[in-house]
Amino acid sequence: MRIYDIIRKKRDNHELSKLEIDFFVEKYSKGEIPDYQASALLMAIYLNKMNKQETVYLTEAMMNSGEVIDLSAIEGIKVDKHSTGGVGDKTTIALAPLVAACGAPVAKMSGRGLGHTGGTLDKLEAIPGFSIEMEAEKFIDSVNEHKIAVCGQTASIAVADKKMYALRDVTATVDNISLIAASIMCKKLASGANAILLDVKTGDGAFMKTLDDSFELAKAMVDIGNGMNRETIGMITDMDEPLGFAVGNSLEVIEAIETLKGNGPTDFVNLCETLGAYMLVLAKVASTYEEGVQKIKEAITSGSALDKLRVFIENQGGDKSIVDDYSLLPKASKIVPIKAEKSGYISKIEAEEVGVSAMILGAGRETKEDVLDLAAGIVLEKKVGDYVECGDILAYMHLNNENKFESARERFVKAYTIVDEKVEPKKLIYGVVT
Ligand code: URA
Repeated sequence: MRIYDIIRKKRDNHELSKLEIDFFVEKYSKGEIPDYQASALLMAIYLNKMNKQETVYLTEAMMNSGEVIDLSAIEGIKVDKHSTGGVGDKTTIALAPLVAACGAPVAKMSGRGLGHTGGTLDKLEAIPGFSIEMEAEKFIDSVNEHKIAVCGQTASIAVADKKMYALRDVTATVDNISLIAASIMCKKLASGANAILLDVKTGDGAFMKTLDDSFELAKAMVDIGNGMNRETIGMITDMDEPLGFAVGNSLEVIEAIETLKGNGPTDFVNLCETLGAYMLVLAKVASTYEEGVQKIKEAITSGSALDKLRVFIENQGGDKSIVDDYSLLPKASKIVPIKAEKSGYISKIEAEEVGVSAMILGAGRETKEDVLDLAAGIVLEKKVGDYVECGDILAYMHLNNENKFESARERFVKAYTIVDEKVEPKKLIYGVVT
C-alpha cells in the first residue's frame, strides 16, 4: 500500500477502506509518512469529505494510536460528558458532583483552555491544593469510593490526534465535520467511558457558529459513538452569550458552588439539570428524563451535591473550606465596574469578545505557554433581554494587571448591542440528537 495512491483516491472523491485509513493513521503517527503527504490527504478529505463509515474507521484508528483506558474496574455505567467549549462554561465543576451525588460514577478526564474558551482543569486549579494529576489506581479507587474523580488527559491518549490537529491547524483543514468529530470522539472513546453525552455549543462563542453546522457535528459524533457501541446523546446548547454570569477561573468556581447551594444563574441551572438528567438516564440511575431532572433538583435542595463537592475537593488534595469561604480562592486586587454607554434592551453579548476580554485580563491563554491569572475575569450583571439605563453597570472586571485593563474594556464594551425594542432572552437548548 502507498500513501500516494490513498491521496489520489480521496482526491478523486472515492471512499477509503478501513485498511487504507488504518495505514495512514498508523504510519503518520510513527513519523513514516511526511507532513506534506499527510497535509495533501487531509486537504483531499476536507474538500471531498468522508462518509459515515470512513469517519468511524478514522476515529477507531486514531483511538488505537495511543493508550485506551480500561475503566472496567469501576462499578456501574461510566458516563462521560464532553462540551465543545465556550465562554463561562464551568459545567463540569457543578455537574460532576451533582451526578455523583445521585449515584452515577463520574470518571472524567478534562482539558485546559486555549484562546477565548476556558478549560475545566484550569478552573479546578484555582482551588488551593487541588491536584489534577492522579495515578490510574488512585483514579479508579476514588471513583469506586466517592463516585467522582477528575484528572488531566494523559499525553499517551490518541497520539495521532495531537499530530494531526497540529497539522490541520496550519493547513486550513480544521473546520471539517468528519475531522472534528473523529478528533473529539477518538479522545472520548480512548478515555474508557461506557456512554457519552455531548454538549455541542452553538453560536458566536462556540466552535460551531451556526445551528446547521452544530447539528451536523452532533449527528456525526453521535453516529461514531453509537457505531462503536457506546450509547451517545448529543445536545445543542447556546453559546451566543456567555453561560451564567462569571467568566474566569476562580470566579467560575464560585458560580458553580453557588449553583450547588441553590443560587445559580437560570441558564446555568437549566443546563446542569438537563445534562445531569441525560447523564443519569445513560448511567441507568434514572429511568426517564423527568426522573433524572427530579433527582438532580433534589441533589441541590438536600445539599448532597455540595457535600459531594467537598469530598471531591478533599480527595484531590484541595482545601474544601473554600466551599464556605470564597476569600480563600485567588482574589483580584482591583474590581472595576463597566458601565452601559446607552439605554435600551441588550440584544446581543458576543461571547467570543467577552472570552477574549477575560483572556486579555489574564483569565485565558493566547498561547499554550501563557501563565494564567486565576483571579482575573469578568462578572456580568446583565444578560440578553435585560433593560439598562445609560450608566448602569454591565459587568465588573476583576484584575491584577492594570496595563491590560483598557484593551480588555474596549473589547468588552463592543461585545454589547443595545437596542430600543424589547428583546426576548436567549433560548438555551436547541435540540437533542440520538
Ligand atoms: N476540538 C478537538 O479536540 N478537535 C477538533 O478538531 C476540534 C475541536
